[in-house]
Amino acid sequence: MIKIAPSILAADPLNLERDVRAAEAAGVDWIHVDVMDAHFVPNLAFTPDAVKRLKEVTALPLDVHLMMDHPETLADAFLDAGASCLTIHAESDADVPELLRHIRERGCMAGLAVKPRTVLDEVRDLIDLTDLMLLMTVEPGFGGQKLDERVIEKIRSLSESGYTGWIEADGGIKEDNLRRLAENGLTVAVLGTGLLRAEDMKAAVERLHRIGSGE
Ligand code: DX5
Ligand code: ZN
Repeated sequence: MIKIAPSILAADPLNLERDVRAAEAAGVDWIHVDVMDAHFVPNLAFTPDAVKRLKEVTALPLDVHLMMDHPETLADAFLDAGASCLTIHAESDADVPELLRHIRERGCMAGLAVKPRTVLDEVRDLIDLTDLMLLMTVEPGFGGQKLDERVIEKIRSLSESGYTGWIEADGGIKEDNLRRLAENGLTVAVLGTGLLRAEDMKAAVERLHRIGSGE
């Protein structure tokens, strides 16, 4: 069954614990934590301390997405804080293969994120070092954007390549486009505004799981 991961970038910053507990009660599978350094993307979000506290309030896996020029500077802090998956961008300035290996050596799932314009052939040699590929369906930096449908072809191509890790998409995912994503091989869907602002989150998660499973 497809995993549903709410992005807490869309949560109420003054009620983060409330929104995370509500999402867990609604039946989501992972919590997606967007980390932004105001350099790689023109926005700033979440710290290792936030992840540490999140670890204390939810048992769900914390899927940490580092939108940073230099993710190596804080990778160990996020690993120490309890990240279950730590995803770095192929477009960052890090020694990406080395950092992916280090994340795995520390017992955490290693994820590689690519922006919509980055083609898979550019990262072909890195894919074997990953447990998750995050195919951004918007330019990273902000929630509430429109899904870039051209990325669906990238999802299909990765799925048909026999990749056995998680295939995650992130940005602009809603109930009305999730079916196409799932039909093309998506296995983890990140939703910010499309889920955390739903009237009835439990009903929304049930619909998303059904849609993602092809019902
Ligand atoms: C964007 C983040 C996404 C975003 C998703 O840089 O990586 O996780 O918060 O939000 P929506 O679902 O509203 O596009
Ligand atoms: Zn994200």
